[in-house]
Amino acid sequence: MRSFLSLNNISPVVDTVLKDKYTMSADAANPVGIMLRSFKMHDYVLPESVLCIGRAGAGVNNIPIEKYAQQGVVVFNAPGANSNAVKELVLTAMLLSGRKIIPAINWVNGLKDGEKTVSEQVEKGKSAFIGNEIMGKTLAVYGLGAIGMKVANMAIQLGMKVKGYDPYLSDELAKHLDENVERVFTTDDLIKDIDFITLHVPLTDETKEFINAKRLESMKDGLNVINCARGELVSNKDIIEACKSGKVNRYVTDFSTSELLNQENVICLPHLGASTPEAEDNCAVMAGNQMIEFIENGNIINSVNYPNVKLEKQGACRLVVLFAEGAKDSIENKIKSMKKVIDYKLAARKGFGAVVANISDKPCCNCLDDLKAIDGCIKVYLPE
Ligand code: 3PG
Repeated sequence: MRSFLSLNNISPVVDTVLKDKYTMSADAANPVGIMLRSFKMHDYVLPESVLCIGRAGAGVNNIPIEKYAQQGVVVFNAPGANSNAVKELVLTAMLLSGRKIIPAINWVNGLKDGEKTVSEQVEKGKSAFIGNEIMGKTLAVYGLGAIGMKVANMAIQLGMKVKGYDPYLSDELAKHLDENVERVFTTDDLIKDIDFITLHVPLTDETKEFINAKRLESMKDGLNVINCARGELVSNKDIIEACKSGKVNRYVTDFSTSELLNQENVICLPHLGASTPEAEDNCAVMAGNQMIEFIENGNIINSVNYPNVKLEKQGACRLVVLFAEGAKDSIENKIKSMKKVIDYKLAARKGFGAVVANISDKPCCNCLDDLKAIDGCIKVYLPE
């Protein structure tokens, strides 16, 4: 039986995918795959037996995906599998920003019957906690992937005005965006005249500290900033300052650090975005299925370091070749020349490529050696 190693707690629902063919444990020896959530893999020593990694979630900044691609290890994530959970947390964050729910709860819990009863004190004191509704307010959504899209559409349903910005949004995906969401094409247009901004982009050099003092300066006074994506998208120093000055009404972050705790108008959450049983189950099943599909059939679906390649199975066996993008033509020519190849799918993008082929019979050792000898060939693998 083949084994998976888990570097975080993974929903036991994953057993429905592993069936009786795979085991999963935190101390598996010679695992074919690794499943994890936010475990930081940058200094992790990868067992040589590992063919693929499944991130049971969306963000992959905890995984050295480029290094693993160079080693021929395919990394998958589970896009969309936790998007509803995160969307609901964003809604919570927007409501907590507008209404003074948290201080109100803290205040009411400290009351005692005395000269006046608790209910009398409540009626007298509640005016200190008046807050704003979100209906009619303008929300900016930065990033219209699985989560941002759901947030934007939900906000329309809640009666908000919504602007969305995503330079990488395909026309195909854009069709799922509520027609009332105004698509803007510059960050300047996105942040203009808004009451709320919510971030839904991955952490990259381009997006790091997107919210900073300079950008905040050109935004409306009293706006609310919601960050359920990654902490580093916001400059902590600048947002703390802006929350103190009143430039920002509330900063709600799911990425707490010591400097953010107990700061005026900052609401810290303990990375709860995907922490619902529903999301945990969905992520485990999606990541597990994708890993097994690769291990057994060589199909690559939702990889973050190799292109997707999917081919219906026929013939006696399958062949997978992972390669550096520069070797694309040499690999393709070799595959075409192999007599036992029935058909194949090949794709390359962002530095790496993959081919999956149907083979009429087990390929000869010479053919495999010839493939491996091509400059830029990273891995030759026969899935079963
Ligand atoms: C994600 O990237 O999917 C979310 O941040 C959730 O992360 P988690 O799986 O570690 O809770």
